[in-house]
Amino acid sequence: MSMDSSFRFLPIPTEIQFGCGILSSLPERIRGLGCKKALVVTDPGMRAAGAVARVEALLSAAGIGFAVYDSVTPDSGSNLIMEAAGLLKHTGADVVVGLGGGSALDTSKAVAAMATNPGAILDYTGLDKLICKPLPVVAIPTASGTGSEVTFWSVFIDDRTNLKVAAGGVLLFPAIALCDPELTLTLPPSATAATGMDALGHAVECYTNTACQPISAALALKAIELIGQHLRTAVLNGKDPESRYGMMLASTMAGIAMNSTRLGLAHALAMPLGSYTIRIPHGLAIAITLPVVMKFNHASRFERYAEVARALGEHVHRLPLRDAAACSFAAVKKLSADIGIPARLSDVGLREEHIDDVAAEAIKSGNVAVNPRRTTVEDLRAILRDAL
Ligand SMILES: [Fe+2]
Repeated sequence: MSMDSSFRFLPIPTEIQFGCGILSSLPERIRGLGCKKALVVTDPGMRAAGAVARVEALLSAAGIGFAVYDSVTPDSGSNLIMEAAGLLKHTGADVVVGLGGGSALDTSKAVAAMATNPGAILDYTGLDKLICKPLPVVAIPTASGTGSEVTFWSVFIDDRTNLKVAAGGVLLFPAIALCDPELTLTLPPSATAATGMDALGHAVECYTNTACQPISAALALKAIELIGQHLRTAVLNGKDPESRYGMMLASTMAGIAMNSTRLGLAHALAMPLGSYTIRIPHGLAIAITLPVVMKFNHASRFERYAEVARALGEHVHRLPLRDAAACSFAAVKKLSADIGIPARLSDVGLREEHIDDVAAEAIKSGNVAVNPRRTTVEDLRAILRDAL
């Protein structure tokens, strides 16, 4: 980027409260928003793990009324969102508390939007379609990956077509992100690995794409560094508080960075890979396709990919630039292998006959337009075959 380059960075309106034990400030945050009754949107796993009971106890002790919708499923669905929105209207809640991974948080944002906007959530897919300001959302992530607590995206399945779709726009930012790394101490290794690789995908695709500017770049590069330092330990020794803190910081920073830039081919592909009957979990789709996408892209921006390799801890300073850049996708593959990510898309259910449909859908993504290398549908098919 030269001195005369102009750029756009979108600041986030979300107030970030970050720290071990910060969950206990939830009642104070709700009061600070001027709200009196919460709808907690979460999933059955959070209920089983005791996190919902903790939130219920905090709200009860503070005398804040609440109702709980705890039926969120992976990637939710447009019908589920409308069901939860129906419960919200019935209870008269004036704030939505999202508690869980990306699916719970994305659902909470969509539910808050449907409290104030007419029609159905499917009327609002795409960018900036909402008309009215949603109810405030307090987003409490229990995994370090999607960054949903600081992004303006809500991703869900369109139950009419079985396609993964997204609603986005500045009105969808949560009011408050309550980032408590302690909540991730009990996240199982496989979920820690997949969500952590999603955060890496955000940081790498943001840092290397054509829309990246110096402010997003700084956040994304720091996120890559943190993930290189902490993801292995977070997976292999989940009770280590320092690595959990580092990973939550990384996913938050990457989330802030990517609102302004969009992402790249791994995220373009992950939407259809999570659709139809294929339904590969988002983090795994990102983890497996990311090194293949980086290999496809790296010659278009050697400097950036060399920096990614350096940030991941590779000793590249004496290498020619192109060799240093090539270390970036090798480093991602090593990281994936160390944390038990399956090596191939066929390991997680993709079959040769899916490739044409996935590529045809992925090429329509806005993430393709900012990818550092110009991409055709044939290129996407080749990337999928390479990762199969
Ligand atoms: Fe992602």
